[in-house]
Amino acid sequence: MKNGESWQAAGMSFTPITSAIGAEVEGVDLAEDLSDEQIAALRQALSDHSLLLLRGQSVSPEQHIRFSRRFGDLEKHVLSDFCLPGHPEIFIVSNIVENGRHIGAYGGAKEWHSDLSYMAEPSLGSAFYCLECPSEGGETEFASMFAAYDALDDDRKTWLASQRAVHDYAYHYATFLSHRKPLTEEQKAKIPPIAHPCVRTHPDNGRPALYLSYALVSHFEGMSPEESRPLLKELTEFATQPQFTYKHAWRPGDMVFWDNRSAMHRACPFDDNSRRLMYRTTIEGDRPFFKTAA
Ligand code: OGA
Ligand code: MN
Repeated sequence: MKNGESWQAAGMSFTPITSAIGAEVEGVDLAEDLSDEQIAALRQALSDHSLLLLRGQSVSPEQHIRFSRRFGDLEKHVLSDFCLPGHPEIFIVSNIVENGRHIGAYGGAKEWHSDLSYMAEPSLGSAFYCLECPSEGGETEFASMFAAYDALDDDRKTWLASQRAVHDYAYHYATFLSHRKPLTEEQKAKIPPIAHPCVRTHPDNGRPALYLSYALVSHFEGMSPEESRPLLKELTEFATQPQFTYKHAWRPGDMVFWDNRSAMHRACPFDDNSRRLMYRTTIEGDRPFFKTAA
């Protein structure tokens, strides 16, 4: 589905993917060192559309890292076992087993989330590059938290504006990732629970976005888990309705760069006998804040 007009900037063409989320970018080769003008145009489109799709790319780990670094410093994931040897900035997402061990994070990300929301300074965005993918299934679905916020009724907006949600990776891991080996105490110590505003203002364009998820938030601050869980579920379901989402069917060579400040995403199931190999860089971001309109 294409909606809205295409536009040109810095020699690239941009075409909206849906009216809520995404723009496909053509006319850029990520293996090259991009100009400041190109980076500025990409940054603006990312902020406004929450997701950029760049097809037909062919990038080495070094080129992937160089491109990502133009947007900020890169994270090194707490699950260091799943980082590319020699390139800790690349987090591998894969079901492939080599020498008896998974080479990347597997069987995760099935629940809606925003990357590293459980950190005090969560990620700005993630650049996810497809090397191998199944012929069907294994898509990634994205939801616009700008569109979700805008569609909330006024009472909910008012309530959420004063509320904070506790994001907790150890809770998430124990509840949703019990098939993996448990986190070590050392890993847990690096990621204590953290409260963030339920609505966050996008630092580049000032738009409010809903910022919570059933899977990563254990509870609302000051509320019991029993009270919080049904509401978190309802809000996550509300926010991920079809009109706010885009499901990306991967092809090798696709780079999808999403904005973790205004989008959530999740992985779709696929036949585990087929191979899926994805490389992710994760750009550092700022502490979420909410600024009420003047
Ligand atoms: C991620 C993620 C989804 C997928 O890497 O951050 O959520 O489809 N991946 O693998
Ligand atoms: Mn993710």
